[in-house]
Amino acid sequence: MLEIKALEAGYGETLILRGINLNVAEGALVAVLGANGAGKTTLNMTISGVVRPRGGEVRFAGQSLAALSPPEIVSLGLIHVPE
Ligand SMILES: Nc1ncnc2c1ncn2[C@@H]1O[C@H](COP(=O)(O)OP(=O)(O)O)[C@@H](O)[C@H]1O
Ligand SMILES: [Mg+2]
Repeated sequence: MLEIKALEAGYGETLILRGINLNVAEGALVAVLGANGAGKTTLNMTISGVVRPRGGEVRFAGQSLAALSPPEIVSLGLIHVPE
């Protein structure tokens, strides 16, 4: 349902996400674990469209999110709930 392929994203000149691949099937619960500063929040912000991907792609229910704004991504039912 959520497919992440070769995702790259970062801030300014700094690349944080380098080649992230992750699939979440419908009905599945998936946890992303990592040390402080590993990039978990950056991954969620990139899925949400708040941080824009520099490479790779995020697809939800078969649709690429590349051209969508954060509100448009929410309207698909893909919602980031911080904390
Ligand atoms: N707005 C930002 N500008 C520049 N660097 C950032 C920003 N947000 C996070 N970072 C850096 O990105 C890296 C990953 O941070 P983050 O995604 O918050 O990790 P986590 O959520 O796993 O603790 C860290 O090195 C952090 O300092
Ligand atoms: Mg975090």
